[in-house]
Amino acid sequence: MCGIIGIIGKNQASELLIDGLRRLEYRGYDSTGIATVDDGILNRRRASGKIINLEKEILKKPISGTMGIGHTRWATHGVPSENNAHPHMTEKVAVVHNGIIENYRELADGLGLKPSDMESETDTEVIVHLLTQKLNDGKTPLQSVQEILPQLKGAFALCMIFSGHNNTMIGARVGSPLAIGVGDGETYFGSDALALAPYTQDICYLNDGDYVIATDDNIKIYDNSDKVVERPIVKTSLSGDSVGRGNYETFMEKEIHEQPTVIGDTLTSYIHPAKQTLTIPDLGVDFNKIEKITISACGTAYYAGLVAKYWIEKLTRIPVEIDVASEFRYREPPMFKNGVAIFVSQSGETMDTLEALRYCKKQNQKIISIVNVLESTIARESDAILQTQAGPEIGVASTKAFTTQLTVLLCLSLSIAKQIGKLDKKLEKEFVSALLELPSTISQVLAEADNIKAIAENVAKAKDVLFLGRGVNYPIAMEGALKLKEISYIHAEGYPAGEMKHGPIALIDDSVPIIASCPNDELFDKTAGNIQEAIARGGRVVFMSDSDGIAKMRKMTSTSFAEFCVPKINHLVAPILYSVPVQLLAYYCAFIKGTDIDQPRNLAKSVTVE
Ligand code: M6R
Repeated sequence: MCGIIGIIGKNQASELLIDGLRRLEYRGYDSTGIATVDDGILNRRRASGKIINLEKEILKKPISGTMGIGHTRWATHGVPSENNAHPHMTEKVAVVHNGIIENYRELADGLGLKPSDMESETDTEVIVHLLTQKLNDGKTPLQSVQEILPQLKGAFALCMIFSGHNNTMIGARVGSPLAIGVGDGETYFGSDALALAPYTQDICYLNDGDYVIATDDNIKIYDNSDKVVERPIVKTSLSGDSVGRGNYETFMEKEIHEQPTVIGDTLTSYIHPAKQTLTIPDLGVDFNKIEKITISACGTAYYAGLVAKYWIEKLTRIPVEIDVASEFRYREPPMFKNGVAIFVSQSGETMDTLEALRYCKKQNQKIISIVNVLESTIARESDAILQTQAGPEIGVASTKAFTTQLTVLLCLSLSIAKQIGKLDKKLEKEFVSALLELPSTISQVLAEADNIKAIAENVAKAKDVLFLGRGVNYPIAMEGALKLKEISYIHAEGYPAGEMKHGPIALIDDSVPIIASCPNDELFDKTAGNIQEAIARGGRVVFMSDSDGIAKMRKMTSTSFAEFCVPKINHLVAPILYSVPVQLLAYYCAFIKGTDIDQPRNLAKSVTVE
């Protein structure tokens, strides 16, 4: 949610901290701040709003020191403001924090703190007071941290520096991730490896409950029973270049256009292109014995899971239960013994998804996760991982992560069908070859982006937009609506076209554009019929189908409608292709409205709080 960076280096830290924060800004961008230790004295600069404001502040009042911590915030407790920005500090200690301290009020009461003793409205500040009390009692920084950590309830990653200690940084994690970068006589802390990519490729991930004391050339890790432990140092494939915008205006535009490549990369992991066979690794599950599959995820990843429900049930006849993770985890659903639970997450850090996973683990489910970040907590807590090869996704609105999730989920659905004898060699070849067409058909859609831009000129004026789809394309309608809401702030709903007549058709008039994803499949006539009902009531329809579908629709109505022609594609694969025009539509609507596309208001990329 928030971004943390820490540097114990040889050079002045402030510029490096700002650079690291820029890479983390996608995680939260309400306010930012840094603190350093210089000659044993703590210094701090903070600003509300984006990093540029902090840079201006530092330009006015430079800050020196070769060791420092930085933070970019997504507000949980307390409004976005300079006072609430991290680091929080006293004369003795400065702290940056990602996550939530649930019992901060009780802790503050325990310290006898009144609201007037607090500088901010945050939950984080209590940590600073707890530490200061210990330090005032003569405890060392490490002893102080060891004594306060068991008192904190919630999920958090912390990074702390102390006055009088020019070469000591302490980090801790419970729930929220924290990575340590090991450099040449330099040590780094980051809430993800992306922030550390320009400095080092050698990364050590703390386990849940670990804390670490670091100097420029040494790290010592303790587990939650205060035992010194070794954690492996792994090489990350991320580099400083992984996070550029290239020639694109925004990360989101770049990421939409990367889809042919990243889907191609993802397919290479799960199919053999020459033999046209599936090559999903052995997941250690005999699906012949599985009575039900459970899928859980949030937001866009949930919609990917919803498409998979259609695929798995159709191809394998194994029932699939799916729920958004925030509902699933508290619903405490009964589960079949030894079932399979699938979790979908780009970041691999979404708290709701992680907790749903942990619930399923306790229910003895086999955990399969589809994640983009291999080193993430969800990946590490899973029995089997199927990675999407989307590369770093920086735009808050998920695009290439979604289509690569769908790609993996379709390969998985087909592989389950194959394992249980419901997919013969001929069909396998047919579907694999359809999947292999995706990179080029998506490129064809991207080449027509200007047509979508022209359609967006109209849609961007609307206050409300309806997205319709049926069957396996119904989740694409919901994803299209989510994309539009997220980045253009236009209210939108995704609806199953067949449900229109049960209520929402009452909304139809010429001010509500209707975006219909309507591949020419077995449900085409039904969906087209529903669309006609909307046209007959004055609805302004944007009809997305292939050339045959559009020709059929033209014959069905004399009223004109906007159209976008999508290449012909196998019906099972269609949702992946039809995702792209709705992404582009949302993108251009936001572009026309001039919103902050990569960092839409109130959102953050990775939601590591409940
Ligand atoms: O990292 P995850 O895939 O677990 O994130 C889940 C959702 O928070 C995410 O998909 C969110 O809905 C996106 N901003 C949608 O564009």
